[in-house]
Amino acid sequence: MGNETLTITDNRTGKTYEVPVQNGTIKALDLRQIKIGPDDFGLMTYDPAFMNTASCKSKITFIDGDKGILRYRGYPIEQLAERSTYLETAFLLINGELPTRAELEDWTYQVNHHTIIHENIKKFMDGFHYDANPMGMLVGTVGALSTFYKEAKNIHDPENRQKQIYRLIGKMITLAGFAYRHSRGLPFAYPDNELSYAGNFLNMLFRMTEPKYKPHPVLEKALDVLFILHADHEQNCSTNAMRSVGSSHVDPFSAVAGAAAALYGPLHGGANAEVLYMLDLIGTMNNIPDFIKSVKEGKGKLMGFGHRVYKNYDPRAKIIKHLADQVFEVTGRNPKLDMALELERIALSDEYFIKRKLYPNVDFYSGLIYQAMGFPIDMFPVLFAIGRTSGWIAQWQEMLMDGEQKIARPRQIYLGYDKRDYQTLDQRSATAA
Ligand code: SDX
Repeated sequence: MGNETLTITDNRTGKTYEVPVQNGTIKALDLRQIKIGPDDFGLMTYDPAFMNTASCKSKITFIDGDKGILRYRGYPIEQLAERSTYLETAFLLINGELPTRAELEDWTYQVNHHTIIHENIKKFMDGFHYDANPMGMLVGTVGALSTFYKEAKNIHDPENRQKQIYRLIGKMITLAGFAYRHSRGLPFAYPDNELSYAGNFLNMLFRMTEPKYKPHPVLEKALDVLFILHADHEQNCSTNAMRSVGSSHVDPFSAVAGAAAALYGPLHGGANAEVLYMLDLIGTMNNIPDFIKSVKEGKGKLMGFGHRVYKNYDPRAKIIKHLADQVFEVTGRNPKLDMALELERIALSDEYFIKRKLYPNVDFYSGLIYQAMGFPIDMFPVLFAIGRTSGWIAQWQEMLMDGEQKIARPRQIYLGYDKRDYQTLDQRSATAA
């Protein structure tokens, strides 16, 4: 390749500048030298919602949005979904390599032995309204964990950081299980560390009076695969929140609370629930054409469709679609699947969606599986958060170790008032008059 620079001519001054190109980017700070005079702050970039801005360098997840490729630490998501487990994938994301047998045994032991939460957390849970949204409960209680582990703020101590990582991954399923049980008015079911990660979670959700919960192997495996599929996705909204909140060097529980809050939004991790609400709103197959028409008129979105990066089919959606067949063999087919398939068929052949490269994303089919497995719709974002916790942690830790990273503090374009003097109430009312 030739000279890896940009030559920029500022037509306001006639000056030219050489700016290096690295990894397909230029450093925004290299634009600050472009000034029209000595008092000029220098050029900045303006990029609302970071449509074209790399905020970090990362080695964790690779996405090719045009080709529909997703890899964790180089491993294709299809292979991990088929051959790995969530805990093994979490180790891979956080440590960069697949674990040896001994490493996996130790990792599994450590995570499993951090599933118990402080009994006082139950009091928080009891304090929530009877119909509190479990994702709101999760956001609140994961943040509260920071008050139980005061040493968590020592984020630069690797051993201490590792212990908080065990705690976060181990306790997310317990907090989620307790939130579910609270929302159902059921007594809390405690962890059973002899079960798998997904099996233990199902145990804390659905165990009733039986002394030992036995998860259905097909559902246990399907949930584990769903956790793998949701584990990381490079610089998505909630991961950006994790990195930004974490950049102030707060403890990881508080940073995860911030990330989970971002995930809660209907445009992000809340979309899996919005898909089911949308299908309920449409009601019957006959109403689909009118609904699609209303979306094209800008009266709403086809939830579960579209993506900032994927301009092709989300590879996770493909895997989930196949997973649905296995789950429905056990649970019975979710009747809403027919409506979802018809929505997809119509959207994929309609110019409005084709032109905007709108395809099903990870949220379009996942909710159908969750609902068939017996999860209430408001639990769907919680399931997303459980899987994504390992990705948030991996990205947070990479940010902490990155010498180029500092506290996140963007600039702005100020378009407000110039200096003006304070007015008394009388002056104001006179002015208003
Ligand atoms: C996740 O970033 C990640 O990686 C996220 C995620 C992860 O793993 O972390 O993959 C998980 O959040 C998946 C996305 C879940 N959200 C939804 O399914 C909600 C519905 N989707 C949209 O809100 C939207 O597609 C986004 C938020 C996903 C992406 O939004 P963008 O990139 O900002 O795109 P945009 O809103 O600028 O849309 C471009 C055009 C617009 O039309 P025009 O103004 O050009 O006419 O496409 C239209 C939009 O109106 N559009 C849609 C649409 N999504 C975009 N029109 C109808 N239905 C939709 N779903």
